[in-house]
Amino acid sequence: MAKSSGNMMDKLVSLSKRRGIVFQSSEIYGGINSCWDYGPVGVELKRNIKEFWWRSMVFWRNDIEGIDASIIMHPTVWKASGHVDNFTDPMVDCKQCKRRFRADEIEGDKCPVCGGELTKPRQFNLMFKTFMGPVQNETNSIYLRPETAQGIYVNFLNVQKASRKKIPFGVAQIGKAFRNEITPGNFIFRTREFEQMEMQYFVKPGTDEEFFEEWKATRMAWYKELGIRSEKLRFHQHGPDELAHYAKAAFDIEFEFPFGWKELEGIHNRTDFDLRRHQEFSGKDLRYFDDQTHERYIPYVIETSAGVDRTLLTVLSNAYQEEEVKGETRVVLKINPKISPIKIAVFPLIKKEGMPEIAQKIQADLQRKYKTFYDISGAIGRRYRRQDEIGTPYCITVDSQTLEDQTVTVRDRDTMEQQRVASAQLLNYFRDKLDI
Ligand code: GAP
Repeated sequence: MAKSSGNMMDKLVSLSKRRGIVFQSSEIYGGINSCWDYGPVGVELKRNIKEFWWRSMVFWRNDIEGIDASIIMHPTVWKASGHVDNFTDPMVDCKQCKRRFRADEIEGDKCPVCGGELTKPRQFNLMFKTFMGPVQNETNSIYLRPETAQGIYVNFLNVQKASRKKIPFGVAQIGKAFRNEITPGNFIFRTREFEQMEMQYFVKPGTDEEFFEEWKATRMAWYKELGIRSEKLRFHQHGPDELAHYAKAAFDIEFEFPFGWKELEGIHNRTDFDLRRHQEFSGKDLRYFDDQTHERYIPYVIETSAGVDRTLLTVLSNAYQEEEVKGETRVVLKINPKISPIKIAVFPLIKKEGMPEIAQKIQADLQRKYKTFYDISGAIGRRYRRQDEIGTPYCITVDSQTLEDQTVTVRDRDTMEQQRVASAQLLNYFRDKLDI
């Protein structure tokens, strides 16, 4: 039976460190606020989440192509996009303890920590600024991109022409983004360096509201397919005060994290705002030519913008369970097997009678296709528990019966039941269960 857990975030952070999912960045120097490193298990989970998104966006449809644009872009991009002028958060400082807060997160007019007097709100631009080349002056200032979307807009016609796409079509991209957040926190939920999975869908003006609804449904369904429980997902519509400077309408997909309902993905109707501004600032004609109707127009854009790190935290929070098994607590991550970091663990029951050699041969056959793990140390029960904690869906054990009939046991993480499978059939057995 699942037990409700105490401080879930503490448990996730501690499990993440212990089992190589997420480490604090630069830990030996005391760490650096809001920066995290993915360990051997975390990096696999992150890759699988991205792969699942990429396949559903780029492989399984004919109307979306992918790109991988540079993080550093021409500085005028950020003037045109409105980020230089508008990508700000209101900030207040405590005159007494010198702490800094986002003004919109504070109730009342006193410091929530020490009760001190606060400064008046000032607008703080969230973009990281640095210099390109050896001369450090304003002319050489550049920004780290705060969203990946702009790399898609400036390449809109390149992609359309190179891949002969007709509207409606989309361009997808996964990559790092940077924001100098005033109050990062909640582990990997809000950080200053993070990864986005963004897709911009170019449509004919007038059809935008219909595609907006379609993308809302598609994206919600994606999280369910990823294995996130329906009751932990909901939409939140942005009111006029919440809308980003580029958006005509916006909905967030929210997840119920251990610290409350929070945004997981944004779906935005960006109209022709970005392309129109890039046309204006670059002086280049960015209109699409419809060769059927002979019309030229700037398309509208429906954007789906998800955070990789936030999705990973969602997957962990959604999957973490503690269960009573024979009087002991079993910690298990019930992650969708298709995105589990390690797919199959292989164990010889004992270290003799040729079992290690058979197990190694089985692993060698499977690891060309799946991330596997070979473990020979400790009692078999402990080996199972170690895999449960990182969400490995299947454990194979080579035992004395294997020596007689070449079958192995395959133990299922969720039911803990074991089945005998012929070792020659293992790849077939796993195909439907594990392939994305
Ligand atoms: N291009 C539109 C855009 O960037 P956003 O709502 O600001 O929209 C989209 O961000 C998603 O990126 C968020 O839903 C979240 O998953 C992720 N994200 C944004 N800021 C983040 C941060 N500081 N740390 C981690 N993820 C972040």
